[in-house]
Amino acid sequence: MANYFSSNFRLGILGGGQLGKMLLTATQQLDIFTAVLDPSAQAPCALISDAFVEGDLMDFDTVYQFGKSVDLLTIEIEHINIDALYKLEEEGLEIYPQPKVLATIQHKGKQKDFFGKHQIPTAAYKRFSSGAALKKNPPVLPFVWKSAQFGYDGTGVKIVRTLAELETLPEVECLIEELVPFKNELAVIVARNKAGERATYPVVEMEFHPEANQVEYVICPARISEKVAEKAQKIALKVSESFAHIGLMAVEMFQTDNDDILVNEVAPRTHNSGHYSIEAAYTSQFEQHLRSILNLPLGCTDSKLAGIMVNLVGEEGFSGPVVYENIEAVLKMPGVSPHIYGKKQTRPFRKMGHVTIVDKDIDTARRVAETVKNTLRVISK
Ligand SMILES: Nc1ncnc2c1ncn2[C@@H]1O[C@H](COP(=O)(O)OP(=O)(O)O)[C@@H](O)[C@H]1O
Ligand SMILES: [Mg+2]
Repeated sequence: MANYFSSNFRLGILGGGQLGKMLLTATQQLDIFTAVLDPSAQAPCALISDAFVEGDLMDFDTVYQFGKSVDLLTIEIEHINIDALYKLEEEGLEIYPQPKVLATIQHKGKQKDFFGKHQIPTAAYKRFSSGAALKKNPPVLPFVWKSAQFGYDGTGVKIVRTLAELETLPEVECLIEELVPFKNELAVIVARNKAGERATYPVVEMEFHPEANQVEYVICPARISEKVAEKAQKIALKVSESFAHIGLMAVEMFQTDNDDILVNEVAPRTHNSGHYSIEAAYTSQFEQHLRSILNLPLGCTDSKLAGIMVNLVGEEGFSGPVVYENIEAVLKMPGVSPHIYGKKQTRPFRKMGHVTIVDKDIDTARRVAETVKNTLRVISK
């Protein structure tokens, strides 16, 4: 086995945002050398990676040259130049997630086709090569519209209820899905290494704000029956196996009114829904990602305590240098750990950090989480 620790081994990471930053706490723990590529000199990883390279993740030569300088490559973002990854792979570089997994997942249409091909339960859908093609054959309302590429955090998704809304959709390649009446949004993170070892984290639940369509809390474990939890984990494992994926894979799912599980989408990397694991699990998702891509023994995925994660997003009406108002009050609360990603400027709804709340009792954790949510404000002065 290669020696990764306190050695000349160089791990490359494409993307230097908050997921990269939290991955670096795991590489520091194990003393693994890291090189990070990101377009912004102010990226959260810029000052804490061993070698930071400023460059365009969509540019073939930039990604290719960066890949040539490392011994193994991973990602923290999917929007990257895949052709460069294919060439690097051909030349013998190990890349996890594998480029062909990334190519499927980068494109929501191809991803849904993949689910169909592998009998993975998912909402009915139809692909369109352009906005014009969709508008020419208006489907039955309502439906969910999704841009085939480049959406994130809901930016490429719209629930369309009227013909007037249909007309405002952009001209890009897209797909439409049946609007699923779900009672819960769930997620399961699966880890898989080259030796074929697999590990599944507990099912988490995304609790949404009743009006603003935003995830307010990620709750682990999800407050669902054992039977539904088992079904969700089994489907998540099947998804990961179907991709023969190496690394971490987060599977987002809907629990329908009659307790069916439908896969919404997957991310071949560490995920917002796994941040709770830093404080609450035996092995954080970031350490687990490292273990899986380096073909090391996987860690225990059980939780030590109930964990709830609250996203810290920029408040509406504030743009500029960030201030975390009332953070001292939050630090006084039991079992509360804030994470600040290091973005100096706030904007409405920008993901600036998160707070994890742990407790022996999930209802207590949920109550504290609500106080945190109502106390801490991400603003600018
Ligand atoms: N078919 C659907 N039916 C109902 N709600 C949906 C459907 N697809 C997506 N959504 C809602 O939109 C959100 C964002 O969609 P998703 O495909 O996960 O896009 P993103 O890449 O932005 O995360 C989901 O978390 C869910 O709340
Ligand atoms: Mg999603």
